[in-house]
Amino acid sequence: MGSDIENKQINRQLFGDDFEWGVSTAAPQIEGSLDTDGRGRSVWDVFTQLKGKVLNGDTAHTACDFYNRYRDDIALIKQLHIPNFRFSIAWPRVMPNGTGEVNQTGIDYYNSIIDFCLECGIEPWVTIYHWDLPQELELKGGWTNRDIVSWFSDYVKVCIANFGDRVKNWMVMNEPAVFTGAGYFLGVHAPGRTGIKNFLPAVHHAVLCMATGGRLLRQALPNANIGTTFSCSDIAPYSTNPRDVSAANRADIFFNRIFIEAVSGMGYPDDIKVLKRIKNYIKPGDEQLMSFDFDFIGIQNYTREIIKASFLVPYIGAKIVKAENRGVPLTAMKWEVYPPAIYNVIKKFSAYPFVKKIIITENGSAFPDEVKDGEVHDPLRLAYLQQHMAQVLKAKQEGGKVAGYFIWTLTDNFEWAEGYHPRFGIIHVDFKTQQRIIKGSGKWYGEFLKG
Ligand code: BGC
Repeated sequence: MGSDIENKQINRQLFGDDFEWGVSTAAPQIEGSLDTDGRGRSVWDVFTQLKGKVLNGDTAHTACDFYNRYRDDIALIKQLHIPNFRFSIAWPRVMPNGTGEVNQTGIDYYNSIIDFCLECGIEPWVTIYHWDLPQELELKGGWTNRDIVSWFSDYVKVCIANFGDRVKNWMVMNEPAVFTGAGYFLGVHAPGRTGIKNFLPAVHHAVLCMATGGRLLRQALPNANIGTTFSCSDIAPYSTNPRDVSAANRADIFFNRIFIEAVSGMGYPDDIKVLKRIKNYIKPGDEQLMSFDFDFIGIQNYTREIIKASFLVPYIGAKIVKAENRGVPLTAMKWEVYPPAIYNVIKKFSAYPFVKKIIITENGSAFPDEVKDGEVHDPLRLAYLQQHMAQVLKAKQEGGKVAGYFIWTLTDNFEWAEGYHPRFGIIHVDFKTQQRIIKGSGKWYGEFLKG
């Protein structure tokens, strides 16, 4: 079964010399040192204090202590021959209140990371916003307040002014569908708001900020490689019943289409009644402000979703058929291991004419690892990565616009509402001692890249 490529050993050469290889992280999941050196509070600092919001009551207070150990961790990236490192800037570390005062110690910290990467021959790929909204801005309405467009613009300008001379690769935002959907509609991520009245303005303001961020970067840094990242789901209907098929189409709009279509000038998909209400938040002139011509889009894919019609789910009328009830192989997140998903999403997004280039800015898996005799063998993660890379190659060879692949993630870290339980790293972290052990998958990636 499977194509030739899936059965062949993959090697780096098959992807071509200009294919970008990397590893991805995000500040709130690794840094820790939340109260250090003038950092302000983020919505996640507050959310993790609320009872029952994060598994086992975990917080990101220490996380992987990357704040103090970044040199050691970047040295590990170098040791594994990984040429590109994606990390995010913490907005509350550089602007403690989200707007106004700039914290020079925070700026110095990111400058040290950037400089050390370059010293090690590693290219920094910077995400400007990976979900850690300054709490002071949330108190003013956060993403529901249109003023966020000017707060965000000021923050982007601070990033450009301080890091733009050395950072060539930028991602304006990480997965807007997740921070608006989980954070402002379902309430399962920070700041824990719920309902369509929070969700719709958050969506529109996120679109405006994404495009505005892109434009500011382009004006100031005409040669920069400018992108933004999307969570992309491979969606299939539960059955051929037309009700399930149209439920899957509706899920596709929410999971995949809203943000990319809006920011690319197509406007909001209006095939779903409730989405028409987003017009209430659109002001004259917004149509122009909403779009930007990104150099690349970051696709982040982990699994596929099977969708069934359901009258019980408001607005969308569709529900996910849980992978755990489908008798399929699962990761520690209870996500199905389904490598063709990444092939399907590359094909799907390549079909948009305005998409110039796709970088897989996240793909990876969590499995329960065990340390034995000072080593971590993780054959399931290794197989997952190899099978997904093979699918990426297949999509590329068939004309998909994919030009890079970044593993999620470097070290085991703080997995949001799931706390420290899911381990996604190619490097194991003992959270009591902060000791790092390169897992089997990490060693393989290093050999693969060296080859
Ligand atoms: C996010 C990461 C997260 C990963 C695994 C993505 O949605 O960008 O921050 O850890 O998926 O859940």
